[in-house]
Amino acid sequence: MSTREIPVALKERSYPVYLGAGALERLGELYKRHGLGGRAAIVTDRTVEKLYARRALQALKGAGVDAQVIPVPPGESSKSLEWADRLYTRLIWGGFDREAVIVAVGGGVVGDLAGFVAATYLRGVRWVPVPTTLLAQVDASVGGKTGINHRLGKNLIGAFHQPQFVLVDPQALETLPERERWSGAAETVKAALIRDAELFSLLERRLDELIRLEDWGLAEEVIARAVQIKARIVAEDEREVTGARTLLNFGHTVGHALEAATQYKRFTHGEAVVWGMLVETELSHALGKLPLEEKKRVQALLERFPRPPLPEGLDIDTLMEYIHRDKKARGRKLRVVALGAIGRAEIAELPAEELRERLRNLWPW
Ligand SMILES: NC(=O)c1ccc[n+]([C@@H]2O[C@H](COP(=O)([O-])OP(=O)(O)OC[C@H]3O[C@@H](n4cnc5c(N)ncnc54)[C@H](O)[C@@H]3O)[C@@H](O)[C@H]2O)c1
Ligand SMILES: [Zn+2]
Repeated sequence: MSTREIPVALKERSYPVYLGAGALERLGELYKRHGLGGRAAIVTDRTVEKLYARRALQALKGAGVDAQVIPVPPGESSKSLEWADRLYTRLIWGGFDREAVIVAVGGGVVGDLAGFVAATYLRGVRWVPVPTTLLAQVDASVGGKTGINHRLGKNLIGAFHQPQFVLVDPQALETLPERERWSGAAETVKAALIRDAELFSLLERRLDELIRLEDWGLAEEVIARAVQIKARIVAEDEREVTGARTLLNFGHTVGHALEAATQYKRFTHGEAVVWGMLVETELSHALGKLPLEEKKRVQALLERFPRPPLPEGLDIDTLMEYIHRDKKARGRKLRVVALGAIGRAEIAELPAEELRERLRNLWPW
């Protein structure tokens, strides 16, 4: 089976994303091709361990690589300093040196944790994400953001650390629960809305087939396009300084606030982002940017996503409180991402008071 190759252009830190149904079998060969000579520590979670980490181990061993699997419990709570510390201990005990390579086989949790450990162990060792959730395949595994949570907030501790390559095998999605597939699909809609009108039409036509994984060609095409968008934006703004990377936050100002306001229990990330995109699309129209017809098209696609209702009793002032916290700054003006059209996002700055009033007017109940 052919494997696509999508470049992430970051000068001396450039790397490819390999993508193809069945590509997991090629892990050992690609590891060698990239000149990775050292021992490999496969970090995974206990669910993914049985499904794919053992296959990754076989692929590496088959290529003559000395590799071992180190599992952590599944779930967001493993993205902690405590689990990072346990991984450091395993690596030190195991005698992993600066030539070692960390291979992260799992979803965004494993990727963020293992990537963070790779960024910091012995002041940085090389790493390779092998994402197994749709969310991680289209979003988390590309761009080099790694990190862990602090008890006072999510993703507050971290580092930028670009991998050697990324390996995406859509066949891994077969075992992924349907709710998690929808969650990742929400990020493909986001990618389409900010940069790719053609991807948007493709999703309008074939979203349900994508979720059901009826056609590997379709899954590859959607993932490839979403990865390309993320890769281009990251290439423009590797460390989130020029603002381009902010565009990836479309739907996330409100989405993150909804997740936090419900203690990360009510919604998957994608479900919160679908709600966020619905609200921010309405806001884009209210700000005079997005024409009515396009607004309707966007909302029609988003409404197809199953999701829990907004919590009753969540008022705008509480939501604004979470929005301020998420921005990690309390400036007078807030930056939100707005749509000018399907496939074209832009940054809008508006005073916090104006955002509050506009949200009050367009809140969907
Ligand atoms: N670094 C970034 O740029 C970035 C971007 C977006 C999100 N994230 C982070 O990603 C995390 C969320 O990632 P996620 O949604 O992948 O969650 P996750 O890693 O927790 O995976 C979700 C669940 O699916 C299971 N799983 C994974 N792959 C599977 C498979 N193929 N078959 C069956 N089960 C499987 C996992 O064990 C887990 O229980 C968050 O911590 C978020 O902060 C990071
Ligand atoms: Zn997201």
